[in-house]
Amino acid sequence: MNDKNSKNSIIRLFNVSKRFGGKLALKDISLEIEQGEFVFISGPSGAGKSTLLKILYLAEKASEGQILIDGMNLARISSSKLPFLRRRFGMVFQDYKLIPSRTVYENVALVLEAAGKKPSYIRKKVVQVLRTTGMEKKLKALPPTLSGGEQQKVAVARAVVGEPSIILADEPTGSLDSSSAQAILDLLMEYHKKGATILVASHNLHLLESSVRGRNIEINDGIIKRTATML
Ligand SMILES: Nc1ncnc2c1ncn2[C@@H]1O[C@H](COP(=O)(O)OP(=O)(O)O)[C@@H](O)[C@H]1O
Ligand SMILES: [Mg+2]
Repeated sequence: MNDKNSKNSIIRLFNVSKRFGGKLALKDISLEIEQGEFVFISGPSGAGKSTLLKILYLAEKASEGQILIDGMNLARISSSKLPFLRRRFGMVFQDYKLIPSRTVYENVALVLEAAGKKPSYIRKKVVQVLRTTGMEKKLKALPPTLSGGEQQKVAVARAVVGEPSIILADEPTGSLDSSSAQAILDLLMEYHKKGATILVASHNLHLLESSVRGRNIEINDGIIKRTATML
C-alpha cells in the first residue's frame, strides 16, 4: 500500500517561495498531498498559512518553485483553462470574500450557475447546503447585514456547494462558537468521506485534534516545522 508507486498525489509543491516586497512569507516549501487526504495546516498568526492556501487557489502567484495540481503545472495553465481548474477547488477565505451586493442565496448559487447546472438543481442544492450550515433562514440577507460568524457559514456553504475535489478552508471556524464550529467541521468531514481532499488552516490546533483523523503540517515563519499524523 505504501510503496511510492501507489501514491496518488493531487497537490505537489516543489521549493515554493512567496515574497511580498521584502518579506518572505513562504520559504522553499516542498510538499505532497494525496488524493482524499485531510490535511490540517497549523502554525501561529503570520506563519504563512493563508499565503499557502491562496497560492494553491491561484489567488496569489508563487515567487519561486513549481506547483502541480493533478499533474498540471500551475505556471503553464492557459488563462482559458483557469476557470475549469478553479472549479475543482472550493475556497473559504479567512476574510470570507462574499459579494456584498448579492444575497446569501445568490452568493452560493453563483458557483453552480457558473458551472452550468440546471436551475432546479441549483435551487435544491443551495437551500440544502445553506441548511446544513444553519443559514437557511437568511437566504435573502445581504452579507453586510450578517455577523462575522454568519458570513463564515455562507463562505463555507459556497466552498462546498459545487462538490469540488479539493476544499481549501482558511480558519473556517475562526468566527464561530463551539457548536457552530463543530457543525462546520462535520460538514467538511462529510465531503471528505465523499472523497474530497481537504486542507484546513488554523492557528487553533486543539479544535480539530479530537474530531479529525488526518495529517497536521505545522508551519512557522514560512517554513514547514513538522508534520504529524493525528489519530
Ligand atoms: N498581501 C500581502 N502583502 C504583504 N505582506 C503579506 C501579504 N500577505 C501576507 N503577508 C505577510 O506574509 C506573512 C504570512 O502571512 P499569512 O499567510 O497571512 O499568515 P497566516 O495565515 O499564517 O497568519 C505575514 O508576515 C504577512 O504579514
Ligand atoms: Mg491566515
